[in-house]
Amino acid sequence: MAGPKSQSLFERGMKVLVEGVSSASRGPATFGGAPRYMSHGAGARLYDVDGREYIDWMMAFGALPLGHAHPKVVETIAREAARGTHFATALEVEVEVAEMLVALLPHVDKVRFANTGTEAAMAAFRLARGHTGRRKIIKFEGHYHGWWDSVLINTNPYPPTLLGHPNDPIRIPDSSGIPEEAWKDTIVVRWNDVEALERAMALHGDQAACVVTEGVMSNMGVIPPKPGYLNRMQELCQKHGALFYLDETVTGFRLAAGGCAELYGLTPDIVTYGKALGGGLPMAMIGGRADVMAGLEWGKVLHFGTHNAGRLALHVTKVMLETMLADDQSGFAKIKDLGLKMADSVRQVARNSNRHGIVVQGVNSMFQIFFTDKDQIADYRDFCTHVDRMKFRDFALRLMDKGIYMNPSATLHSLSSIVHTEADIDTTAKAMAEVLEEMP
Ligand SMILES: Cc1ncc(COP(=O)(O)O)c(C=O)c1O
Repeated sequence: MAGPKSQSLFERGMKVLVEGVSSASRGPATFGGAPRYMSHGAGARLYDVDGREYIDWMMAFGALPLGHAHPKVVETIAREAARGTHFATALEVEVEVAEMLVALLPHVDKVRFANTGTEAAMAAFRLARGHTGRRKIIKFEGHYHGWWDSVLINTNPYPPTLLGHPNDPIRIPDSSGIPEEAWKDTIVVRWNDVEALERAMALHGDQAACVVTEGVMSNMGVIPPKPGYLNRMQELCQKHGALFYLDETVTGFRLAAGGCAELYGLTPDIVTYGKALGGGLPMAMIGGRADVMAGLEWGKVLHFGTHNAGRLALHVTKVMLETMLADDQSGFAKIKDLGLKMADSVRQVARNSNRHGIVVQGVNSMFQIFFTDKDQIADYRDFCTHVDRMKFRDFALRLMDKGIYMNPSATLHSLSSIVHTEADIDTTAKAMAEVLEEMP
């Protein structure tokens, strides 16, 4: 349970903030009551206003590969803030960071900076439509590409009775206030199913501006792609002249230096990045092939933004990249090693307890724990039908009482950073073992 100071802040917050917070996923919808109001972070630890300490496995939804208050980040922000926080002009560091990104990502010839994953995705979809002169967007069940109207459909877990036939999913917007015109050209396809994809491409591929996919499904826990699935998607895009848009907002600078594109041998036409890119500051980017990116030139596809390429965020992005890439990409090796160890350790705890059906799925530095009767969660339909989300929330909230912070939503996931340690894994495993015994 949240401590007395968090409770009191929640009561005050409820009077002046919608649900006491600024994003629905941080409030009562996720916590079932008052969230814990955090006061500060250091390394792999978060501290709440009641003075409680947590090992943080959420890491700001993946935005913190270097952990909290990394000395290099703190020093950089202090140094650069003293020279002016934002100019909204061209910057040297903007060119430097873009050069680093283009050197690192073989499929990216040019980048354009934005602030959030949603904004980057909005620009990428507009660019895909502008570049191809086509209207349709093909997206997948359970994939989230930000809260923009055209793609905010079928992102939530729905009851099995609302899923529709796997060949023709029922399209459901995830919010009121989205006019039908906004998503009438959005085609929804079952993910991780080659036949469903081939059928959809035969029907719509020639009118599709892009096919957009998360590389690893990261908004239904963690669901890896089946071998060869994304490569087939890329092939089908090429065949039909639709752009292959890989949304690396979660996976970029997290699963490997080159994200899912590197991990699965892909050459997407467009990518978007966010979260980890800014090392904790708001930073996102659209990147891609030169001829596609040229569409963002003045007079073609419009993309503006007062806060684009914020200089503090760019300087921190540079520090994040330098730190993660140093010593032959040792930062990426470390978060991968810790993530895999953590996932194994949770599997061991679950086996020892043997009281609950648990499956742990992970890819490198990301993992999620599913309370399920199945051996594997392979797609959105499995998630909607076989994952006990309320049980996961109970598990996560009990863990919080023992000083382990994981987001209580089963649709999300946990993440390692370079400042987690094997001792953190052991402490977490011990707390999990206790919680699994306590849980009904
Ligand atoms: C795959 C993916 N794309 C885009 C976004 C939107 O990013 P942001 O929250 O920065 O707007 C998210 C957010 O979780 C995401 O998971």
